[in-house]
Amino acid sequence: MRCIRCKAPANVEVRRHRSAFCSGCYPGWFRNQVQRAIESEGMFGRDDKVLVAISGGKDSLALWHALLQLGYQADGMYIRLGIGNYSQHSQSASERFAAKHGLALHQVDLKEEYGFVVPQLRNQREGKPCAACGTVKRYHFNKVAVDLGYDVVATGHNLDDEAATLFGNVIHWQTDFLGRQGPVLASTHPKLARKVKPLFRLAERDTAAYAVIERIDYILEECPMAVGAKSLEYKDLLNALEERQPGLKQRFLVGFLRGGRKALAGRQEPALIRECRECGQPTTGEVCSYCRMRQRKRRQVESRMAARGS
Ligand code: FES
Ligand code: ZN
Repeated sequence: MRCIRCKAPANVEVRRHRSAFCSGCYPGWFRNQVQRAIESEGMFGRDDKVLVAISGGKDSLALWHALLQLGYQADGMYIRLGIGNYSQHSQSASERFAAKHGLALHQVDLKEEYGFVVPQLRNQREGKPCAACGTVKRYHFNKVAVDLGYDVVATGHNLDDEAATLFGNVIHWQTDFLGRQGPVLASTHPKLARKVKPLFRLAERDTAAYAVIERIDYILEECPMAVGAKSLEYKDLLNALEERQPGLKQRFLVGFLRGGRKALAGRQEPALIRECRECGQPTTGEVCSYCRMRQRKRRQVESRMAARGS
């Protein structure tokens, strides 16, 4: 196999594009894909200030690295979720990356600033805190971006993540979510930052290859809370299909973004956004989902204490 650019022996194969690259040409191809995604979807421009949501894993660090190499102004943000060793390792990987490249990394510490950690948010039915953790992340990334004057929040969601989410939404016919799924979530309120996913056309293994070639020191560990999550099952299923039909994931996602989503989005009323009665952050209800989650948690603790006292 030869590099399609320089004909040297290839190190990375991208089967869905029927391409292969040597390690010298590959990073340029990867960054081109990121640039094309940014431009074709109108994600942000050269003058925009980008806040990258950092987890210490390959996707977020590869995204941050690629944006800087492409000449964008991008700072990072990390949330200390309090998930044992996983959080400690991911925090140090994020801090090492920022220090090595002399970058600003904003941090929010849930335990210190808000008095809770993600493992305490376990859902009583499924025993997993992942959905609540998603609420926590969306809330804080948005809040920090708006408070500090960033134009846009960029996350490292890749093709595999997006295809698995789409698959799950189709399986359960979540038409509301389907209408909103896409690489750009526009801002519809002054306190809502635009959200973008510049890696949505790049597969997990493309990002891993980029991180290895660019010597990005990321954590291999996945969040222990995600073990057994449905999204991982969907990824396995889609990977098995992709093995036999290269390009299937991309056709599934891009086909939906071009056709299906538009049809659904047109039928949905735009949600009315107001400010949360408790915290002032944007929400569609009277109290935002973050404050509701914290109120639930408080009630659980109070009733446990009352039961102990009685
Ligand atoms: Fe949030 Fe795993 S990273 S529950
Ligand atoms: Zn609130």
